Amino acid sequence: MCGIVAAVAQRDVAPLLIAGLKALEYRGYDSAGLAVLEPGAIRRVRAKGKVREMEARYLAEPFPGGTGIAHTRWATHGVPNEVNAHPHVVGRVALVHNGIIENYAELRRALQARGHQFASETDTEVMTALINERIEAGLGLREAVLATVRELDGAYAIAVIDRDEPGHVVGARRGAPLLVGVGIGENFLGSDAQALVQVTNKVIYLDENDVVEITRDQVQVYTLDGAPAERATHESEVSADAVERGEYRHYMQKEIFEQPRAVADTLEARIGPHGVLPNIFGVAGDAVLAKVKGLHIIACGTSYHAGLVAKYWIEQHARLPVSVEVASEYRYREAVVPEDTLFVAISQSGETADTLAAMRESKQRGYLATLAICNVPESSVVREADLKLMTRAGPEIGVASTKAFTTQLAALGLLTLQLARQRGLDEARYLALCEQLAHLPRAIEDALALEPQIAELAARFIHRQHALFLGRGANYPVALEGALKLKEISYIHAEAYPAGELKHGPLALVDESMPVVAVAPSGPLLEKLKSNLQEVRARGGELIVFADDGATSLDGYAAKGAALSFESGGDFIAPAVFTVPLQLLAYHVAVLRGTDVDQPRNLAKSVTVE
Ligand code: G6P
Repeated sequence: MCGIVAAVAQRDVAPLLIAGLKALEYRGYDSAGLAVLEPGAIRRVRAKGKVREMEARYLAEPFPGGTGIAHTRWATHGVPNEVNAHPHVVGRVALVHNGIIENYAELRRALQARGHQFASETDTEVMTALINERIEAGLGLREAVLATVRELDGAYAIAVIDRDEPGHVVGARRGAPLLVGVGIGENFLGSDAQALVQVTNKVIYLDENDVVEITRDQVQVYTLDGAPAERATHESEVSADAVERGEYRHYMQKEIFEQPRAVADTLEARIGPHGVLPNIFGVAGDAVLAKVKGLHIIACGTSYHAGLVAKYWIEQHARLPVSVEVASEYRYREAVVPEDTLFVAISQSGETADTLAAMRESKQRGYLATLAICNVPESSVVREADLKLMTRAGPEIGVASTKAFTTQLAALGLLTLQLARQRGLDEARYLALCEQLAHLPRAIEDALALEPQIAELAARFIHRQHALFLGRGANYPVALEGALKLKEISYIHAEAYPAGELKHGPLALVDESMPVVAVAPSGPLLEKLKSNLQEVRARGGELIVFADDGATSLDGYAAKGAALSFESGGDFIAPAVFTVPLQLLAYHVAVLRGTDVDQPRNLAKSVTVE
């Protein structure tokens, strides 16, 4: 999704802006640009494609200047090309924007009627033109931005400069992330703390509807009505090291291998020998959880799959009804909310537009409380939730989510156990489940040891166009996640089915050219799954089976080398553990197919527009 960096400094800012954009590349984008003020002029460079292509153009003809804005664009209105790339310039004003302006067509028509000729197809140019009009009518940059954003419907994070007001950048946000980086004699704006990690670790998170003006020595926040507002400065925990790729070939590979550490951090000081520690979801969190009679879990993408696993867990162990829904559906339908239902938002970034909007919508729907399970402490989802449990995965750069998912499962495991204990789960069973969860980092480590065999297995997929993933019970969402990983980064069409549903349709697709990946931990459903695998074998489908050491009876189901077994650590944590080989499989298939593993085409890391 679009990324923003802006700076006011004594030194030349273009190199800082480019470094910031590189740190935001993980968000996914298809063009990049920057603009810097020179006395009496706006200098701009833009390019379709990667930041390094824009950088090469800049280096061919560099320009000095201490006030600038920069952007990576993920196309929404208008194709990805240079003309639509940001910054947009109209008259005296240059602007970068992340978000979607919903009333842009109407505003565009009004501007056209007043004689404005548009150079691009973007909603962003509309905002730029409106601000320019106001400046030309005599308003200062800040007043012009304030007056303009008041007219906008939709979501935006913007950074704006005025040719005739060097030394000032004005930012604004609503429904899309933007923060201030506070330096010494220089100040910055960025989409996240990572963009600014090379220049400062002091950050100010802006509230919804805030407008901010930065100069070299000052940061002043305003509310939408123009009144000055105070916002606290925080030390960001994001470190430059955490976003280094180190010895790994891709961020995704690094993040897969960070999972034992990330899960251990997520569990640390939250579970002990006697179970889940008190109030880990926030002050008085346990008292709220004790009242819960049901849960609605809302999320998108991989986070949604984590929610699906939690449904199996919570219904089995806590005996509470759980519904799980993607945020873009939930927010626009009239869900029935029984009394004392807990709203749970799961989000790695905490800025996903649909998840955030669903959470806001939930506040009107009479829930008992909202709980955020999230990886970014200062994100909007966390700030707006009543209860929160942070996953401690650290920055996740690869667009395809890996460690965020397993840490979400660790967090949801804690939630399950707490709810289950409060509802009278047998103490011995409770402690056994706690022990399994505490063992998760080790179990993931064992699964990671399979990498060499999985890298070999991956060769079977290079020339395939389709793949099927099967699982049952809490491992059905694992199959969904495995299929999602494969399609996201290798561009192979992959679908997941609950294995019992195979004969109701997908079996028609099975022949020798269809690899079928089965998630087969031992447990009560294994015998059922085996019958489903027989159905595949009988049609000549190529089976690839991930089993645990207890499931030796699966020998002979797959060809030599296509069945891998390992110690899963128990049925409760199996979904988290079995996800790991599927992540590795998708990763190695993508590497063999030569795709852009960390930034797959058309996808964004943090989807901050609807
Ligand atoms: C995008 C990302 C996915 C992620 C989803 C939800 O689609 O590419 O990896 O699972 O958004 O993001 P969130 O930050 O809310 O978990």
